[in-house]
Amino acid sequence: MTKDQVLLLLKEKNDYFSGEAMSRKIGVSRAAIHTAVKKLRAEGYEIVSATNRGYRLEKSVDCLTAGEIRSYLKQERKAKIIYYEETDSTNTRLKELAQAGEKEGTVVVANAQNAGRGRLGRNFTSGKDKGIYLSILFRPQNGLNHIPEITAWVSVCVSKAVERVTGQKPGIKWVNDIVMGGKKICGILTEMAMEGESGYIQYLIVGIGINVHYKTSDFPKELQEKASSLDAVLGKTVNRAELAAAVIEELDSMYENWPTKKAEYLEYYRQACVNTNKQVRLLKNKEEKFATALEITDNFGLLVEYEDGTREEVSSGEVSVRGIYGYMD
Ligand code: BTN
Repeated sequence: MTKDQVLLLLKEKNDYFSGEAMSRKIGVSRAAIHTAVKKLRAEGYEIVSATNRGYRLEKSVDCLTAGEIRSYLKQERKAKIIYYEETDSTNTRLKELAQAGEKEGTVVVANAQNAGRGRLGRNFTSGKDKGIYLSILFRPQNGLNHIPEITAWVSVCVSKAVERVTGQKPGIKWVNDIVMGGKKICGILTEMAMEGESGYIQYLIVGIGINVHYKTSDFPKELQEKASSLDAVLGKTVNRAELAAAVIEELDSMYENWPTKKAEYLEYYRQACVNTNKQVRLLKNKEEKFATALEITDNFGLLVEYEDGTREEVSSGEVSVRGIYGYMD
């Protein structure tokens, strides 16, 4: 898209770039460059122009458009990034595309969701301009015995991306909540379709929701105790497109190497996990049990010890874990 290419050129140059030079570089007419600049200005970018010098990007906007995300990617990415200003759920959008034969690697990202979905049929708060709502399509044909672990691997990807962009390493609350300052800042929802008989995976969609610019009062009352955002925790404004690009790079790298780097992901996960050596409340089929979380097993399961001394490895599908006093403690 010409608009995205113009944005990229202006960002890279960080100075005046003549319309003619841009048109030669991209291979489109001068008029097309002019139209692209107009569209970027309409999106809020401040672009100044000077006779004989061309255009210069004065100020970017904090938006999640495909062009803005691409401008932060270190390498050209072949797979598509599809942007919605608002949609029901990026997972739902991508599921439809996957069923229609979309290639793997495609990312759907939105500035707002009006039916954002969380695990166990819950809603996911997805306010406009506040977060990153992003889904990616995979069609893994190898490493199938590791598929149940993929959400944990993705937690590592998101944590690494947050660490890279903000300089702060988040914690991971088993199995797939990313936490900072004792509160949840990101959730992950993995959905897939598999052929029952052969075990062939038709598609696997990983949906990631990151709270970036939320204030406490932006969350519904019942979440205010346990949810927060990167800005609120870090006391600064985090750039959403930069973070989305970092997340995409981490996901691409995980999938390119799938599942060969397990030891690396497991090690990162173990270090980041906030549950180990803590008292936890396990919720299994509405039954509540108290235990001490001992360690993360080789399958990203949680080894717990009950009050009577018996031990069990629990898996994410069967239990949900809480601290004994609240979300974390
Ligand atoms: C959870 O915490 O329970 C998981 C939340 C997952 C939210 C993301 S936002 C992008 C994608 N689209 C959705 O509808 N859900 C996921």
